[in-house]
Amino acid sequence: MHQLFTPYDLSGISLANRVVMAPMTRTRTLENNPDALTALYYAQRASAGLIVTEGLPVSDEGRGYLYTPGIYSSTQGQGWRQVTDAVHAKGGKIFAQLWHVGRMSHVSIQPGNAAPVGPSDVAAENTTVYAWIEPGKAGPVLPSVPRALSVDEIARVTADFVHAAKVAIDAGFDGVEIMAANGFLFDQFLSSAVNTRTDQYGGSIANRQRFLLETIDALSAAIGSGKVGVRVSPFGRLYDMRAYADEAQVWSSVAQALDTRQLAYVHLNYQPTITAAEVPAGFGAQFRQDYHGTLIGAGGFTQELARSELEKGDLDLIAFGMPFISNPDLVERMQNNWPLADSDRSTYYGASGAPSHGYTDYPAYGAAPASNMLNGINVAALQQFAQGVAGHPDKGEARFNVKTRWQHQTRSVATVSHYVLGGEKHARHFEIASDEPHELLGQNTAPNPQELLMAALNACLSVGYAANAAAMGITVHSLEIETDGKLDLRGFLGLDENVNPGSDEVSYVVRLRTDASRERVEALHQAVTKTSVNLANFSKAIRMLPTLEVIEA
Ligand SMILES: Cc1cc2nc3c(=O)[nH]c(=O)nc-3n(C[C@H](O)[C@H](O)[C@H](O)COP(=O)(O)O)c2cc1C
Repeated sequence: MHQLFTPYDLSGISLANRVVMAPMTRTRTLENNPDALTALYYAQRASAGLIVTEGLPVSDEGRGYLYTPGIYSSTQGQGWRQVTDAVHAKGGKIFAQLWHVGRMSHVSIQPGNAAPVGPSDVAAENTTVYAWIEPGKAGPVLPSVPRALSVDEIARVTADFVHAAKVAIDAGFDGVEIMAANGFLFDQFLSSAVNTRTDQYGGSIANRQRFLLETIDALSAAIGSGKVGVRVSPFGRLYDMRAYADEAQVWSSVAQALDTRQLAYVHLNYQPTITAAEVPAGFGAQFRQDYHGTLIGAGGFTQELARSELEKGDLDLIAFGMPFISNPDLVERMQNNWPLADSDRSTYYGASGAPSHGYTDYPAYGAAPASNMLNGINVAALQQFAQGVAGHPDKGEARFNVKTRWQHQTRSVATVSHYVLGGEKHARHFEIASDEPHELLGQNTAPNPQELLMAALNACLSVGYAANAAAMGITVHSLEIETDGKLDLRGFLGLDENVNPGSDEVSYVVRLRTDASRERVEALHQAVTKTSVNLANFSKAIRMLPTLEVIEA
């Protein structure tokens, strides 16, 4: 087996192979919160030894592009928990890339429409960020002229990174990667062309790298240095980064400073596929001499190039970016020499149209077109519906159509023929059988209201569990709901007017087979039971008595 597919010990985190999924911004989250679709996207790619997420703004100030999921609020933390659980369930490992764009932002998306921040007031030209062209119209715009961070604010930004790292670890990430590449905040501080400060954060190389190193040290103190990686892009020219006088010395100084810090890794992003960066010959070998820890290389790698770089020994892990967009099973394809699918650049970024398009709908090799199905629920459709409801709460209603018929004389079978969600009709075909009450001696040939009600109840509950599980990123292997309703025949047959002619009490057992933790299944159960207590019977509310049985998959 080639080295690329052998396991690797990343400061105590065991990776199944040396293939890394490179961080890629995909701008799919309208509210800046990761969701079930995000979880599906990363889980589809979990055979990579390590996934590094897209850049995650550490604060509102750190955002330069609309629709990028953050890592600072508790909602975002909960959303990322779905992602890390889904990736871990498939044996993958995942780091969160912590991102502050610095000057690469626009007043229209900054808090209070203030100027973006940076080391100095040097604006990025000849490039764009993704913000509001005018209210309600998103698109590429020239970054606004930044204002220089004060010394106190620099400490506050470091604190924002520490906060984000803690949110990430609480959300189950295996570690974090500080984004110091691609012309964003830390890269701007390192460059003497962008950083014109005269205080302790500007001027000499030691001063220009101070902010990055202080932030790395603060994160290491908070979560452990073995959980902190850092990404740099030496000689990168993205986003109007220009050559500067002491550039080569900066990178060897940074390499030496990082070498003393026992980090999880350093991630070198060369940008050959994006711009023709002039990385001096022998740079990689030099960096290796200065930095002895784990080195990841990214930028234009093919399997052949990856193999030869690993053999040379300058790199330990190889990151692939674009190939992962269209090949969720990139590792298996490379291992088996299966052909790689091309990706469609027009869907790299996108918040318009179906968010799943060009995102979660690339199939694995030989598989049917990738489905967005989880628990029999179309996650993409569910998400679109949820977004629709958020915009038009009046559409937030689902109606179920249940038909019941008798079968074999003593059983009734209810078939849910369709459900209507947000005004759209969805076909549905499953049957629910319930035994005819033996009190009726098996002679009854007409559906009774009791059974109709219970069949409908089961239908609603099963959809409720499946839909909530899909929304939470929980895979349900099987779901069985057994409903037990007590029927007082005196009321049902009209013998006692004081007795309610229906069930006052319905108990049900939910049998769920899933890989998810007990805690997560309980949360799912709570989410469903919270909404099912008020199911109305004929004249008064039914008291629901649920029992949950979890069968570990
Ligand atoms: C759509 C897209 C989004 C990207 N977003 C990020 C990002 O959020 N953070 C980052 O460090 N690099 C980002 N990159 C750069 C990639 O991580 C990677 O370094 C680059 O694509 C080169 O590798 P490749 O030739 O294998 O794609 C992005 C690249 C692409 C294509």
